[in-house]
Amino acid sequence: MKLLIKKGRIIDPSQNLNEVADLLLEDGKVAKIAKTIPDKADRVYDATGKVVAPGFIDLHVHLREPGVEAKESIETGTMAAAAGGITTVACMPNTDPAIDRSIVVSGIRERARENGYVNVAVIGAITVGEEGKQLAEMGDMAKAGAIAFSDDGRCVQSSRLLLHAAEYLQSFDRPLISHSIDQEFNNDGYMHEGAVSAQLGVKGIPSIAEDISVSRDCIVAGYTGTHIHIAHVASAGAVDIIRQAKAKGWPVTAEATVHHLTLTDEACRGFDTATRVSPPLRSQEHVDAVRQGLKDGTLDIIVTDHAPHAPHHKDVEFTKAPNGFCGLETSVGVVLTDLYHTGFLSLDEIVDKMSCRPAALFHLPGGTLNPGAPADVTILDPEQEWTVDPDKFYTKGKATPYKGKHCKGKAVATIVAGQFVMEDGVVCKK
Ligand code: DOR
Repeated sequence: MKLLIKKGRIIDPSQNLNEVADLLLEDGKVAKIAKTIPDKADRVYDATGKVVAPGFIDLHVHLREPGVEAKESIETGTMAAAAGGITTVACMPNTDPAIDRSIVVSGIRERARENGYVNVAVIGAITVGEEGKQLAEMGDMAKAGAIAFSDDGRCVQSSRLLLHAAEYLQSFDRPLISHSIDQEFNNDGYMHEGAVSAQLGVKGIPSIAEDISVSRDCIVAGYTGTHIHIAHVASAGAVDIIRQAKAKGWPVTAEATVHHLTLTDEACRGFDTATRVSPPLRSQEHVDAVRQGLKDGTLDIIVTDHAPHAPHHKDVEFTKAPNGFCGLETSVGVVLTDLYHTGFLSLDEIVDKMSCRPAALFHLPGGTLNPGAPADVTILDPEQEWTVDPDKFYTKGKATPYKGKHCKGKAVATIVAGQFVMEDGVVCKK
């Protein structure tokens, strides 16, 4: 099977490429990039005026399977990914049961092969049931294909247990991903502690809850030499601590979510439960620091933290709602609108932070259009205008703080293993 993508602007920072050229995909792999490739293929796609990039990789996604399929499943979550231009997702282990043993890891990988529209990489839990008490069998899970370990949704509170986890992983070359928030502060707050929470009379979560935990994680990474990746960085203090840790050469990497880059706690004023996330949306100074951290490379990658909930769970009062909203179908549009069209990031930087770096950080195939790489491709129309309408989402969760947002820029095609899984917004099976 040969697919020829003609005349697109190929942006692939992994090989310093930004030029109009043709791309040939053959038998699930990248075959060739050249100025012009003769039209001899099973299908020829005209990408004139579009950007052709290595497939986007989202390393922070909740697919909710097994056990919480009322919120999402591998099928619907990967359809949402395909719709949003994402060719690989890494799924978090706070499922029911948690992904805390090898049989669950292999089960998800098998289900994803059968029902998935895009590639699914599995993240195993650090502790049994994500309960923070006893280390899970991370070695077994690594052998079954888990790419990293996290208790995401919760923070491993015991520093001693975290240290043991990091020591254990020294022989497996897999990162720990830390949901870094001191739980004592987190458990009884509902939004960022600051002027807005005070005015609304809602109990806040201070940014120091994140800073304390991130400093501990960095120290553990420096002490053990185990790669620790800090999830969804949202505070100015955390950005600063990570910057210092990297300057010391400690093996720390970090991510920023689309929402922590583009929304402040002002969004919570209407008590829209879609704005309740963990860590919370913070004030402008924190958002500015997260953006600066992303720009200068302190924060390595952009993720969604796609966290769907059943509509009836979110349709409650602000303080009763669970944290999270669905981000897979809006991330590219919001990033292009708020970070590219404002001149903050170039397209090369966006492709790097949403494709090349995520692949490199977690040693995943993809993130490049070098010949022989998987034929995973995201095609963008940076000029297409559209409005976010959750009724059109493929995900089961409909909550989004971007509802009604007018966007400029969209993923118009998603290709996995050389086959279209989305074209013009319509998702199709490989
Ligand atoms: O907002 C969030 N929701 N943050 C997390 O870390 C967990 C997630 C979820 O699982 O719903």
